[in-house]
Amino acid sequence: MTEKSYGGNNGVREHTNKPITKLKENPNIKMEKYTTKSQKTNKSDKGLSEIESYKKAGEVLIKVRTFARELIKPNMPLVEIAQKIEKEIIKLGAQPAFPVNLSIDDIAAHYHPTLEDETMATGLLKIDIGIHVNGFIADSAFSIDLTPDNKHKELIKASEEALENALKLLDKNPTLSEIGETIQKTISSKGFSPVINLSGHALDQYEIHAGITIPNSSNNSNKTLEPGAYAIEPFATTGEGRVIDGPSSNIYKIINPKTPRSPSARAILEYIWEKNQTLPFSMRELQEKFGNISRLAIRELEQNNIIHNYPQLIEVSRKPVSQAEHTFIKTPEGKIIITTK
Ligand code: CO
Repeated sequence: MTEKSYGGNNGVREHTNKPITKLKENPNIKMEKYTTKSQKTNKSDKGLSEIESYKKAGEVLIKVRTFARELIKPNMPLVEIAQKIEKEIIKLGAQPAFPVNLSIDDIAAHYHPTLEDETMATGLLKIDIGIHVNGFIADSAFSIDLTPDNKHKELIKASEEALENALKLLDKNPTLSEIGETIQKTISSKGFSPVINLSGHALDQYEIHAGITIPNSSNNSNKTLEPGAYAIEPFATTGEGRVIDGPSSNIYKIINPKTPRSPSARAILEYIWEKNQTLPFSMRELQEKFGNISRLAIRELEQNNIIHNYPQLIEVSRKPVSQAEHTFIKTPEGKIIITTK
């Protein structure tokens, strides 16, 4: 799942540098009852180390990716795809780290159907899957061409090759700018543009975007990567190469844990915290669990600034976008392990 950088002076940022307040650290909400409950991970995985958990999440993701490739057919409802992918993740002993993004054509990222959404899989579909084990995340995306004449084949190849070239560079301890430059050059050499205001990102336990961003074009950063977990995710387009905010994605995350007024909003907040902590969640999963009250409750949580609503990210010239993504860890010894490959 990608991160958009908000340049200029529009004053809107998806993330501030200030770390979000964890619910368990907030004195205004009693967290003991949540923190004593175990997160939803297989009992046998409880003893896994951080690196083992990252690897396990990656292993499950590889299987789910294969499952998704076989599952998805033209004109299949996105809701069905989302539900089946989620079910498969849980069947394989892990948990979704975010609602699977199913973004078509010029929607670059952050589309997830609501329960009543009748959108079908068509065109250029990006499938961006997140899985966690003990909160340690694997994040991987691929694109499929559902057009009868496979007209997006080259565009899909461009983001895939950009990702491969960026991953190959990692053993040389590149700067962030060098990674971006490699992505940009690969995509440009094939006659397309990288989406420059979308980026890869650091991952941390229960944090999908943990500070550092990995650019999709060269910038001035001489920073190299510290040990940790990261996702690289090039986006290629036939358009201008920039995204703007679109309508709500119906994907949310908890940002500011105040206790809401209504019991239904409180129930939803408690449910999400226990299940996902600060990881993104969807309207759809709430509709399945809580029914019609979900929309009102979500509106209340949004109005009170308790949750953040991710907008859909749409290519500014309304041209198709392809995406490829893998997660890797850099060990304290400097070894690179790609977990989702
Ligand atoms: Co990502």
